[in-house]
Amino acid sequence: MNIVTMTRVLTLAGLVGASSLSGCSDATELREGRESPAARTKMNFDPKIVPNAPKRTSYDPNRVFTNPLRIPDEAIPEKTAPAQAPGTMGLATPATTATSSPPTSYRLSIHAMNVQMLPGPPTPMVGFAGRFPGPTLKAERGIPTVVTQANDWTENVTIHNHGHKVSAESDGHPVDYILPGKYKDYYYPNDQRAGTFWYHDHTMDLTGAHVYAGLAGFYIIHDKAEDVLNLPSGSYDVPLLLQDRTFAENNELYYFGNPHGWGGPTPVINGTVNPVLNVAARKYRLRLLNGANARTLNLHFSIQGKPVPFQLISSDGGLLEAPVLMKAITIHPGERYDVVMDFKNFPVNTVMDLLNDDDPGIEPLLPALMQFKVTHTEVDGATVPPRLSIIDRLQEKDAKAFGTVELGLSNDGETWTLNGTTYDPARIDIRSKRDTVTIWTLKNATEFTHPFHKHLVQFTILDINGQAPPPELAGWKDTVGVPGNGSMRIIFKNERFSGTYVLHCHRLEHEDHRMMIQESVEP
Ligand code: C2O
Ligand code: CU
Repeated sequence: MNIVTMTRVLTLAGLVGASSLSGCSDATELREGRESPAARTKMNFDPKIVPNAPKRTSYDPNRVFTNPLRIPDEAIPEKTAPAQAPGTMGLATPATTATSSPPTSYRLSIHAMNVQMLPGPPTPMVGFAGRFPGPTLKAERGIPTVVTQANDWTENVTIHNHGHKVSAESDGHPVDYILPGKYKDYYYPNDQRAGTFWYHDHTMDLTGAHVYAGLAGFYIIHDKAEDVLNLPSGSYDVPLLLQDRTFAENNELYYFGNPHGWGGPTPVINGTVNPVLNVAARKYRLRLLNGANARTLNLHFSIQGKPVPFQLISSDGGLLEAPVLMKAITIHPGERYDVVMDFKNFPVNTVMDLLNDDDPGIEPLLPALMQFKVTHTEVDGATVPPRLSIIDRLQEKDAKAFGTVELGLSNDGETWTLNGTTYDPARIDIRSKRDTVTIWTLKNATEFTHPFHKHLVQFTILDINGQAPPPELAGWKDTVGVPGNGSMRIIFKNERFSGTYVLHCHRLEHEDHRMMIQESVEP
């Protein structure tokens, strides 16, 4: 079966290929994928995310959300050597590029670990510093960060800080491997707006498997412009890593890297299965990150079936110009949206659901992600001001360079493509000039939405199918769903760094089947 046929089947039969809703399995579909060499190589790593127990838990409509939501630990900086007083003898302080502040340093060890996810045996995973999600790295704009990633695992890895403007050496290029037993220092300038970012594995052909295994964490940048707004902060600022998983009966993760995407019927939010977050009757900032491998989330909040509106304040690259009152939000894999939910009008004991309406044809469904329970009242000192930020947009009239990226499918229907080709790390596909205002047209020649992600920049969207973008897509973005058979124009400037960067589909199994090309940014 080629990809077109399989895709058609999947549109009807599901995200994971086989229906596990009723416990009946579509053996043909599974066998098809198992015979694919690409899928075979993906299985072959430790710990066992292998189909050795392919009985899967199915969605339980009476699911109870009782596990307290895990809040990822904050990474603790390493003690750095005291700054040298001028004139003293000693080692030179390493140069820190444009910013003068010395960097904050972290060291994370990547290794296999067991995580208690479900009752019974723990789930073998791979994590940063033994955590899932990885520890949250917090940065202040203008103060650089150095993260030493030590590969104490058995497989090659490479770590990308998604949405960060960073040198090519520190970008986590797909073949810039950290070999087992080695480490690499990633240098992050934090020279960009406050926002919600995330770091995750980016290993060629294996990103889906590695992220599924646990290699993902938050990277949050703060700045003064945001701090003065008095948005909900501290314990009222909650990052939510939204993922779905399939567990085998022995509680191991079941992963099957077919070319379409992988997911599961079980919501795993911040590493917590079926979670609940106890909240006070006040405002919360919720940083929604779609960290699922392949599932697009169409989210809304609901109390006893009635939708509850929320304020959208931020997209991938930071704050919007003004908050937008919304009833629902679509988040593609890789995208982030920060929202403010105000629980103040809800009496103690109110339960609010975070619900998902899957795109047609996706199975198994993931109709609910988590719950919030109002447990007490509290004075709320936070505000959401009517103006959040100024977006310094690049102007179409200033554009000096133009390009097209076509999202497609090969003629034989076997392979997802970008500009008619698939990823080859030895080939440059696009050459662009640094510090030049550039417009790219993203053309989707397939019938499916693909989440397009470009490294190095935040861009803004000029238009989608000829129309101005809706408010949620009007701010800074690094990942965007390009609608099936549609097109959009994005405007950006590759600044400060030159070198080789990738652009790709962020449906990780598409990326792993090489729906990715390379851009050389030249000075
Ligand atoms: Cu979040 Cu190139 O990836
Ligand atoms: Cu895709």
